[in-house]
Amino acid sequence: MLKETIVEADVKPAGYDDKTQQMLQQIQTVTVIGSGTMGNGICHVFAQCGFKVHMMDIRQEALDKAIVTIGKNMDRQVGKGTLSEQDKADSLGRISTFTDMAEAVKNSDLVVEAATENIDLKLKIFQELDKLAPATCILASNTSSISLTRIASYTKRPAQVIGMHFMNPVPVMKLVEIINGYATDVKVTETIVNLSRYLGKVPCVVNDYPGFISNRILLPMLNEAILALQEGVAGVEEIDTIMKLGMAHPMGPLQLADFIGLDTCYSIMNVLHMGFGNQKYAPATLLANMVQAGYLGVKSGEGFYKYTPGSKEMTVSERFKKRDY
Ligand code: CAA
Repeated sequence: MLKETIVEADVKPAGYDDKTQQMLQQIQTVTVIGSGTMGNGICHVFAQCGFKVHMMDIRQEALDKAIVTIGKNMDRQVGKGTLSEQDKADSLGRISTFTDMAEAVKNSDLVVEAATENIDLKLKIFQELDKLAPATCILASNTSSISLTRIASYTKRPAQVIGMHFMNPVPVMKLVEIINGYATDVKVTETIVNLSRYLGKVPCVVNDYPGFISNRILLPMLNEAILALQEGVAGVEEIDTIMKLGMAHPMGPLQLADFIGLDTCYSIMNVLHMGFGNQKYAPATLLANMVQAGYLGVKSGEGFYKYTPGSKEMTVSERFKKRDY
């Protein structure tokens, strides 16, 4: 049910309580920084649940592309009958695009930063957000591994900084990993937990250690699959098939690495490696080489597999069919 409908309804849905009401009064406008895979998915979910969404990116073309992507992803829901054409139109109508950060965050109650997974970039963005966003605004980051305590230290409101880590594809995946920085206020955590539930997600609150829980466990597994490929233990298809059919994973680890983006996987491994100072987290050389060569997975058209834009088709990359690596 949409936000406006719930607030006005006489009979509230199950699970709706005073805390949800409080949260809805507090959070009306949400700004999402970044319109890439995660950013547009986050905008999709907030807009569909009735929030006013400001989507900000530095390039208008990226924003235009993101709106098209959100429309196509909503079409999947329309096709299945889980969203009406009217709700789709209303949801898209709630999203405005901005290339200017000051304009985008003006009057926002919550900012969710979903820019590229690069420490320097995120620190700079938070420094700016702190200057530009209203004093009461909560600043959340969708970072998949960077310390929230460090990010918060670049602002004058560390109590209002929190991690809100969505999973890809955002409209489908149920989890939101919520990360408390060292100074995050318990009331802020409560608001974000209620908000995540309201978005139809399942929140899990964790503390601020490298990779949190999700990527501390997931990424070493993906890196291990890449090491096994690098050593020639098995080929791409064998590695992925073993994990899909043997462990009931929806995607094999190499396909999942391509799906996440090999650049993102590489930067998360570096955060784990530096953060724990343990050699077991060193990124595979094959991963480093592929990133440096621009083979980033689905987003660049090729990684361990080769992808055809607009199609579900994929084939093992020629390199892994023919050559030693
Ligand atoms: N928006 C809306 N709906 C979408 C969608 C999107 N972007 N992508 C897929 N869907 C829907 C489809 O419409 C379909 O719906 P129904 O089942 O109701 O018909 C459903 O999701 C399944 O999609 P497909 O049939 O296209 O394909 P699939 O069965 O192979 O599922 C998948 C696709 C959901 C991505 C599945 O392969 C999967 O679960 N993969 C693993 C995903 C994963 O592990 N994500 C976490 C990555 S880690 C991360 O994000 C965090 C990080 O920090 C790195």
